[in-house]
Amino acid sequence: MQFIDLQAQYRQLKGPIDARIQQVLDHGRYVLGPEVGELEERLAEYVGVKHCIGLSSGTDALLVSLMALDIGAGDEVITTPFTFIATGEMIALIGAKPVFVDIDPRTYNVAPDLIEAAITSRTRAILPVSLYGQCAEMDAINAVAERHGLPVIEDAAQSFGATYRSRRSCALSTIGCTSFFPSKPLGCYGDGGACFTEDESLATKIRWIAAHGQDRRYHHPLIGINGRLDTLQAAVLLAKLDVFPQEVEEREKIGRRYTDLLAGMVETPYIEAHNTSVYAQYTIQVEERDGLAERLRAVGIPTAVHYPIPLTRQPALLDPEAHVPRASAAAERVLSLPMSPWLSREDQDRVVESVKTALMDRDGRVSR
Ligand SMILES: Cc1ncc(COP(=O)(O)O)c(C=O)c1O
Repeated sequence: MQFIDLQAQYRQLKGPIDARIQQVLDHGRYVLGPEVGELEERLAEYVGVKHCIGLSSGTDALLVSLMALDIGAGDEVITTPFTFIATGEMIALIGAKPVFVDIDPRTYNVAPDLIEAAITSRTRAILPVSLYGQCAEMDAINAVAERHGLPVIEDAAQSFGATYRSRRSCALSTIGCTSFFPSKPLGCYGDGGACFTEDESLATKIRWIAAHGQDRRYHHPLIGINGRLDTLQAAVLLAKLDVFPQEVEEREKIGRRYTDLLAGMVETPYIEAHNTSVYAQYTIQVEERDGLAERLRAVGIPTAVHYPIPLTRQPALLDPEAHVPRASAAAERVLSLPMSPWLSREDQDRVVESVKTALMDRDGRVSR
């Protein structure tokens, strides 16, 4: 069994994916070819916002968003410590300080009620992450941001396709950033990402920054990067987008089934009633997580830990003064199980049975 079986998806979509790739090879417009614009239009419509800008990765989506908002040295950006490194890394890369606010222990997303106390005169933005496929508590976050006149960037690398109060992830704040890394809910065959916004001038600025700050050929009003989405990756995404809504449904079904079968045995994901999750990760909590992971590995079930070290304790972002006990506790206990829309019922059952067996103590009781 694989943690995410990308080849199973390719086997099903080989015809349309190969045809889309062949079209690019035939027309030869490898950079900013017609597929990029077509994809941006379709993604903007899917998400329900005016502007989508295709980018070279989710990391670059965060970077160009921060640059477009003119955030830099001496500024502070409030974010979560319980995320992939890229979130804090891009804040630090532009010379700003990531200010880490602890999480809601049930959803693992930043706790909105702790944000206001972290705001200072140097705060320039709030950057929540919609972790594991469930949106952060965006209404409450936007309300705090509005009180202080701050923009909000949603790091939606893991939540593309999820909804928050019936609105799509990436349409919930000043800018939404997502990733098309191969294992993400909507993944390409290399690196890719996108920014979404309603704000026309921000959209233009993001587009310029992603192309060396260029507004017209060889004229550069801004400092930028080479951050464009490849035409070939856009072609792959266009083929996959046709079946994405069904895949999202399948993810939700498998997530709910796992939860039904694992309830009472382990702590299953808590999804708010007003949210849907795309289960980019299906993540449980258990005591002695490493022991369980090892026992599952021994019977051929791969697992992963997202994430074993909060960003406050990463050597590159070390922040010993940050007080994030909930993120630290979660980092010790979380374990992600195999999850993808093509995970067969038999494999789902095997995962559940293996977790059950691994948790049985010597008396035959199930222990947490
Ligand atoms: C929460 C989060 N933010 C940012 C990223 C960065 O995305 P990418 O790998 O496309 O650069 C990822 C993906 O790995 C992620 O999970």
